Amino acid sequence: MNAHELRSTYIEFFVSRGHAQIQGKSLLPDNDPTVLFTTAGMHPLVPYILGQEHPAGRRLTNYQKCIRTGDIDAVGDPGHLTFFEMLGNWSLGDYFKEEAIKMSFEFLTSPQCLGIPLEKLGVTVFEGDDAAPRDEESAAVWKSLGIPEERISYRPRSDNWWGPAGATGPCGPDSEMFIDMGKEPCGPDCAPGCACGKWLEIWNDVFMQYNKTADGMYEPLARTCVDTGMGIERTITILNGKKSVYDTEIFAPIIAAVEKASPYTYGTDVEKDKSTRIIADHTRAATFILGDPRGVSPSNVGAGYVLRRLIRRAVRHGRKLGIEGIMLSPIARVIIEQLSGPYPELAQNQGFIIEEFDKEEAKFLETLLKGEREFEKLLPNLLKDPRRLMSGRLAFKLYDTYGFPIELTEELAAEQGMTVNRAEFDDAFKKHQELSRAGSEQRFKGGLADQGDMSVKYHTATHLMHQALRMVLGDHVAQKGSNITAERMRFDFSHNAPMSSEELIRVELIVNEQIKRDMPVIMNVMSLEEAKDYGAIALFGEKYEPQVKVYTIGDFSKEVCGGPHVERTGTLGVFKIQKEQSSSAGVRRIRAVLE
Ligand code: SER
Repeated sequence: MNAHELRSTYIEFFVSRGHAQIQGKSLLPDNDPTVLFTTAGMHPLVPYILGQEHPAGRRLTNYQKCIRTGDIDAVGDPGHLTFFEMLGNWSLGDYFKEEAIKMSFEFLTSPQCLGIPLEKLGVTVFEGDDAAPRDEESAAVWKSLGIPEERISYRPRSDNWWGPAGATGPCGPDSEMFIDMGKEPCGPDCAPGCACGKWLEIWNDVFMQYNKTADGMYEPLARTCVDTGMGIERTITILNGKKSVYDTEIFAPIIAAVEKASPYTYGTDVEKDKSTRIIADHTRAATFILGDPRGVSPSNVGAGYVLRRLIRRAVRHGRKLGIEGIMLSPIARVIIEQLSGPYPELAQNQGFIIEEFDKEEAKFLETLLKGEREFEKLLPNLLKDPRRLMSGRLAFKLYDTYGFPIELTEELAAEQGMTVNRAEFDDAFKKHQELSRAGSEQRFKGGLADQGDMSVKYHTATHLMHQALRMVLGDHVAQKGSNITAERMRFDFSHNAPMSSEELIRVELIVNEQIKRDMPVIMNVMSLEEAKDYGAIALFGEKYEPQVKVYTIGDFSKEVCGGPHVERTGTLGVFKIQKEQSSSAGVRRIRAVLE
């Protein structure tokens, strides 16, 4: 079965069972400041899952284009994709677990549909915890359909709970469906859901029962809903017994197009194969972002920034394959032709897509050329070194001054038969980080003494960012330090991992949204006890007076704080994160400006 057949078989099946086929939506979601892209088929349906009536009824099905950029660095590995298509069927207060599972089972096993033999199927269900009960109901339905007990695996919340898609929204326990790949079990506990590679997941039935609110509460939904999601690329890979999604008919023409643009033949070098796959994936994702009816161009903010990163990363990998000039638009043409049937917007926007690819590529090539020119200027001196070793400090200077990636400096050096002293580069890089850290610790002592206009603005922006970080990363985020000058704000907070670019962009978006809303900032004096009841965030390890000031910013943030603050958020300007880095173990540091 190929992707086109899977798409139409799925839709026909659910239409024949009373579902209305609805259009997939834009990749750029409406009115949702907590995510940049549509990340799942259910995403555009959130308002309906929360209770609104859908004009097409209570049983819906569709295919939806999706983008997930959280793990952009894993792209090129066998299973990872930035762009993918998701098939789904929904019940909005209509059927629930029993009927959903029965329909899933029929679609998986019926010879008219996927025709998967019963003995190859396994499932997982939610094992239950303090917040929601063990899902015996789903397990019983699977059993009644003939799935033996040992292939029904109870798993914890980390595996069998889905959502919300953003910081808030509908969520619930799920039941996932797996195919046995025929490998030996990895041990006595190997069961569906095990990550050893014996069981591969192809479908997910989510039983939406809760709405996660901004303050982290789970409130029951007015009506229970079903949200199912089947990734087309993944399912095609598994159904056709391929090891990697990049080995399927979906990617074959795209990889052939990359090969055509480059002197490299796919399948002859592990690293270059990976570069080829990254180019294929990123070009596909970028083609869909550019081709979206909401048409975004590469830029330095929001979705445009992700688009720019995708294009530039593809170009860099193109150079690893020995591609010199413009390369992406011919690959994009293949993608447009392949997918304009189900996504006519690609053909409609072809002119724009091609133009934007060419423009952005040319711009990036220019930056690269600048770096190369600087390298050439250094070359005569470099060649005098009998050890053929380029100093790491010099490589660091290219990085620091021109943004020229170290990998490219290494490549240029290699072309001259030289190597870069990487240890020295890493050292310079680290020292630079330590220096700026030491400097900032000095300045941290400055506190809030400065009450000039700009500092007051930064102070309010700090409250907005603190709350936005809690929404995007979770409630474990707590302030560990804050330092403000008239030029910038710096904020240390507890969090265990580097933030992804998508998380940073989301924080920026949320803060800028609150600025745009021009909300009033109001101060009340209350006892510390009252402040806690009121739900205000209190600062780290501070000794409070019995009566404290609480600053409330619209409906968005409440924080115990000495002030001062601006009167309305609309005066802050545009908030921009410049840097996110480690500060100490378990503590991250953000530097941001208002422009
Ligand atoms: N929302 C669920 C998922 O993305 C099912 O559609 O897996």
